[in-house]
Amino acid sequence: MSSLQAIAKELLAPHKGILAADESDSTCVKRFDKYGIEKTPEQRRKWRELLFSAPNISDGLSGIILYDETIRQNASTGEPFAQFLLQQRILPGIKVDQKTEPFTGSPDEEVTKGLDGLPKRLAEYAKLGATFTKWRAVIRISDTLPTEECLRENAKRLAIYAKQSQEAGLVPIIEPEVLLDGEHTLERSEAVLTQTLRITFEETVKAGVELSGLILKSSMALPGKESGKVATLGDIASATLRAFFASVPKEVPGIVFLSGGQTPEDATARLNEIVKQARKQNAPWRITFSYSRALQEPVLKAWSGKDENVETAQKIFERRVQETSLASEGAFE
Ligand code: 13P
Repeated sequence: MSSLQAIAKELLAPHKGILAADESDSTCVKRFDKYGIEKTPEQRRKWRELLFSAPNISDGLSGIILYDETIRQNASTGEPFAQFLLQQRILPGIKVDQKTEPFTGSPDEEVTKGLDGLPKRLAEYAKLGATFTKWRAVIRISDTLPTEECLRENAKRLAIYAKQSQEAGLVPIIEPEVLLDGEHTLERSEAVLTQTLRITFEETVKAGVELSGLILKSSMALPGKESGKVATLGDIASATLRAFFASVPKEVPGIVFLSGGQTPEDATARLNEIVKQARKQNAPWRITFSYSRALQEPVLKAWSGKDENVETAQKIFERRVQETSLASEGAFE
């Protein structure tokens, strides 16, 4: 087994999933604003420490994705966060994509930036203790979007990133996020997800990326947030798995979900159902979570930036991790 395969295997361990705590400073500001939390590097450090030092979370978390600022910060013990996590048997990862830019020729669509100087940044992150990386592309659904050209450009960049990440010894998590925003049906979401993943893997294979040493981070197939439509757990799971079977090579060891603005309850119940159906269909991949909002939202609310709330907030986080961990085994009731 290559070292990339070994890292991927550890990230995809039974009962475990990944916490995405890699919000950029500007995204963190938006989340903090909601609860009137002060927007300073020190408050962000305290927030991340609250999450990373919560009791028993290594039972349900194999890895945590960090942001550039966080991987350079220390826990109160004085240890850098990456080392702090490694001591708890949690693998530290790092978000390496940067901002997005409008796509030439289709300005309502975006492509992700971050390839300039990437090998140098990857080498530095590896030195700081990172073992895996993440790159997110954003795919918007409308009656006319996404265009094949924009999907292809995002896929090419994801593939170059993945190749360079593997060359630096870091497992890439490729995340072409199909957004929940819009009025589309579940069927349209499934079609776009299938096309997005098909193009992503065409480019990934073309770039010579080792499929057994990467992880796919995907959206679920869901009706658009503004569609007014509700889909059953069974229909969501079937549509999502059809998209995966149609486009994700079996050599890929695992698929982790983003939560994408679903409520924590929905994100847990839907993961649970998808995992149950995946087992019945003998899916070749380990399927689990890499949630940010669905794990953090109730915790952030409980903390609201106050030291006296840390313990209560950590208990809520511990519970969210336990529930989601059960769902990753199809065992959440
Ligand atoms: P959400 O779970 O909040 O969608 O975030 C996951 C993520 O990492 C987005 O890049």
